[in-house]
Order: sequence, then structure tokens, then C-alpha cells
Amino acid sequence: MNFNNIQTEYDNGITAITINRPKKLNALNQETINELHHAFKDADLDENTKVVIVTGSGEKAFVAGADISEFADYNVEEGEYLAANGQKILFDFVENLSTPVIAAVNGFALGGGLELAMACHFRVASDNAKMGLPEVSLGVIPGYGGTQRLTHLVGKGRAMELIMTAGMIDANRAFSYGLVNHVTTQEELLPLCNKIALKITQNSSVAISGAIKAVNSSFKDGINGFEVEIKEFGRCFGTEDFAEGTTAFLEKRKADFPGR
Ligand code: COA
Repeated sequence: MNFNNIQTEYDNGITAITINRPKKLNALNQETINELHHAFKDADLDENTKVVIVTGSGEKAFVAGADISEFADYNVEEGEYLAANGQKILFDFVENLSTPVIAAVNGFALGGGLELAMACHFRVASDNAKMGLPEVSLGVIPGYGGTQRLTHLVGKGRAMELIMTAGMIDANRAFSYGLVNHVTTQEELLPLCNKIALKITQNSSVAISGAIKAVNSSFKDGINGFEVEIKEFGRCFGTEDFAEGTTAFLEKRKADFPGR
């Protein structure tokens, strides 16, 4: 599929998705959100892709938010639909993808940008990154899951302060909050993400997809995460990966997982 606003590149089990609107600091317009949906879907369906890394083009921004110019004249219904549709096709979609997704936060991650990074399974930031949810400075609130995911990741008090002040935190503060797992230089950001991704590709992709489902269950209302864990644990016993993983261990060799 041809995209106007993103680029995808596959190498060695890893698909990199780069949001490519540098003149608009990679702001998420509707077309970009739709393209991201398709790119994530394609990567998830591609059995060679074991990990997805998402980043922004240029040296300044990961994503500077939803494209403000697109929704400035929306009414109540349009606003509600914007949030509902975006959450469905991109943010919830990424969070629940069975393939691991790493956000390589290479600069400003504001509003929808931080929301996208938070929907990813974990985040690595470069030391120039700045993160925040500045929506209340525009008279609106985060609508792509930011009030929920920021609270889960950093706790209620910190989320409240960050949202109410519309402030930005730097990469080191984000690290101390547990919002990003690693901070590195701009040059080392993608190499570090690739290194982590390669480590993930060595493991069973079917087991990893079960783990994603079980971990995500702990944040879903009305779903008992322990029950999901039991089901996913049991499911592993019927997979070729489990047979290979346990056999390889007993034969004292490295497992070569078929991913089934
Ligand atoms: N939506 C639409 N356009 C955006 C954008 C967004 N969220 N963020 C940046 N842009 C555009 C700017 O309008 C500008 O376009 P122009 O050159 O056609 O005027 C271009 O990207 C560069 O941004 P600029 O503001 O000139 O860069 P800066 O270095 O002075 O400031 C930011 C960087 C990130 C601090 C600033 O762009 C900003 O505050 N952006 C909005 C962040 C936000 O509120 N996001 C939440 C949206 S809900």
C-alpha cells in the first residue's frame, strides 16, 4: 500500500513505521491516522514481522499532537466522533496489537503524540524529547486515551498535574516517572530500539502475543486478568513454539521458534 504521510521499512523481523510530516511536526491528521491503522494492521498480519518500532521523521518531533487545523471548527458530535474513531482505529488498535510495538520518542510527543506513544507497549526516548498533554491550553481534554493511559503509567497525581498545567516534561523526568523505559542520545535512539527489538524477535511470538493480552487485561474493566492469564498460559501448551522452546532447553540448544 502507498502512503502519503508515513514510511514503512522492514528489516530482520522488525518493521519500522515513520510518521513523515516534518513540516507539521508530524501532527496526526485524519489521513495519517488512517494510514497508521493500515500500516500497523499490515505489520501484524505479516508473519515475518516480530516487532514494530514507530517514530517520527526529522530531529524535532515524534508527533506534536492531533492536527489542530482539522478540528478547530468541529461541533460536539464531531468532536465525540473524532475521539471515538481515533481510539478505535489507532490507539486501542495499537495497544491490543498482538505484535509488540515500541515507541521511539525522538522529540516532541505532545497531545495525540504522547497518546500514541502511550498506546505502544513501551517507550524509549532520546534526550531531546519533550512530553505532555497540552489539550486544556486549547480548551479541550485529551481524547485519544490520554487521561486513562497517563494515569495508569505515572499515577493519578502526576497525571493530574501534567494535564492541568498543560506542561511538558523532559526525557529524564519521563524516565523517573516510568513513562519511558530508557533515555539515550538522538543518534543512539533507533539502534537501541533495534537492539531491544532483536532480543524480542528471538522469543516465541505466540507466547508474546498471549503476554500482551494478559498484561492489557489488568487495565480492562470487567475482565479478570488472572483468568485471562490462565487461559493464555494454557493456550501456549498447544503451540509448536512451546514444543520447540521446551525441547530446545532440554537439548541444551537455542530455540528456533516457528511462531505458531
Ligand atoms: N497541529 C497542527 N499543526 C501543528 C501542530 C499540531 N498539533 N503542531 C505543530 N504544528 C505546525 C505549526 O502550526 C507549524 O506550521 P506552519 O509552519 O505552517 O506555521 C509547524 O508545525 C511548526 O511548528 P511551530 O509551532 O512553528 O514550531 P515551534 O518549534 O515554534 O513549536 C511546539 C513547537 C511543539 C511547541 C508547537 O508547535 C506546539 O505547541 N504545537 C502544538 C502542540 C499541541 O498543542 N498539541 C496537542 C494538540 S491536541
